Amino acid sequence: MERLSPARVQGKICKPNLELFPEKRTSVRGKFTQNNISLYLQDCVQGMKGRIKDKEIDVVVTSPPYNLGINYSQYDDRISRKEYLDWAKVWVKEVARVLSDDGSFFLNISGKPSDPWGPFEVLSIIRNYFCLQNTIHWIKAISIKKNGDFDSFGHYKPVNSDRFLNDCHEYIFHLTKECNVKLDRTAIGVPYQDKSNVKRWKIAKNDVRCRGNTWFIPYKTIQSSAKERPHPATFPVELAEMCIKVHGLKNTKKAMDPFLGIGNAALAAMKLNIPFVGFEIDKEYFEISHRNIEKANAEVS
Ligand SMILES: C[S@@+](CC[C@H](N)C(=O)[O-])C[C@H]1O[C@@H](n2cnc3c(N)ncnc32)[C@H](O)[C@@H]1O
Repeated sequence: MERLSPARVQGKICKPNLELFPEKRTSVRGKFTQNNISLYLQDCVQGMKGRIKDKEIDVVVTSPPYNLGINYSQYDDRISRKEYLDWAKVWVKEVARVLSDDGSFFLNISGKPSDPWGPFEVLSIIRNYFCLQNTIHWIKAISIKKNGDFDSFGHYKPVNSDRFLNDCHEYIFHLTKECNVKLDRTAIGVPYQDKSNVKRWKIAKNDVRCRGNTWFIPYKTIQSSAKERPHPATFPVELAEMCIKVHGLKNTKKAMDPFLGIGNAALAAMKLNIPFVGFEIDKEYFEISHRNIEKANAEVS
């Protein structure tokens, strides 16, 4: 019988319990809906199984726990590699079931310099269900030499080592069923540097070109992480926004993040007017995601 992903108990550190079976689980513990955004306080595998029809989702943008020992308020991010990969098999299979045939699954994941294989081990599971259409590098910090001087942009956590370089990027694997999904490349395009191309090339007439697979998306500078980023492993709203846009707004009837965190993918979907569903097992993060949606909604209305 198929095993499910971790069940969680409020207030306790939650280790995956791969022995739990669907029929033993209690279902909904919380739901939040606003403007076509539905968020559930629920294990994502249980949630997808119970709530999402086959092929209902066009874009999945997500960042699962990386099993690198991050201190989440409930989830235990220090399980054995075997347990972690067994669990990945279960949730990836569900993502494959709910994604439409011409849908896009954007998986943000990273290793760390001393433990770099995790993303590729997860990919080796994923390749049983998906084709790797694009590998995007989320660049968090970069130094650029212009006119002889260096300018540095973005933030990174320095690595204290004489063996490893500072880690300034994460992966965004763009996975599709057959590697044949047409993208809206110029939806996140950039202007040509050499404007003579705009005159010369028909394709360049709007002065916008594909930006390529290196996406510089810095974290915002914040004063207080407790108040402004009360979660240890978020991605910027802009990252999710770019993923949905490059898949194509016209081709996106519904988006999903199975590992919602504090709701940054939900905020992106709301901004783009795309119906969205998300799951999160941690009550604290789940409640912050509501507040973020409510706040963003109040700001636009
Ligand atoms: C890397 S974080 C995602 C952060 C999110 N992208 C954001 O920007 O806020 C992974 C999240 O997955 C949640 N999580 C872990 N196991 C889960 C499960 N089985 N179902 C749903 N959420 C889970 C964790 O509590 C954590 O908040």
